[in-house]
Amino acid sequence: SGAGWIAVAGYEEVPEDGTLASRMEDVSVCLYKVEGEIYATDNQCTHGDAELSEGLIQDGCLIECPLHEGMFDIRTGKAVSPPCTRDIRSYEAKVEGAVIYLRTSARAT
Ligand code: FES
Repeated sequence: SGAGWIAVAGYEEVPEDGTLASRMEDVSVCLYKVEGEIYATDNQCTHGDAELSEGLIQDGCLIECPLHEGMFDIRTGKAVSPPCTRDIRSYEAKVEGAVIYLRTSARAT
């Protein structure tokens, strides 16, 4: 694996259509598994004191915050539903040998 990739969890630890809280160095991250595909964002909601890993995945690509039901796109981190207005960070994810690795990348948007 190339530079910058950090192992954060086993692939099987993330439930299908579910989330798992993990850490990437000092950052609390949320892992998602949708149709076998892994996504990762910050775990802390930008609206308040809530962890997105305790929310629900909606429509296969959105995470609904457990506190006020604001939503973010898990693929990009974009805030897509009020009261959330500030985006969360998303991370590039890959699976190698049943281990999930993340890295911070400058996303082309
Ligand atoms: Fe997440 Fe308010 S804390 S929507």
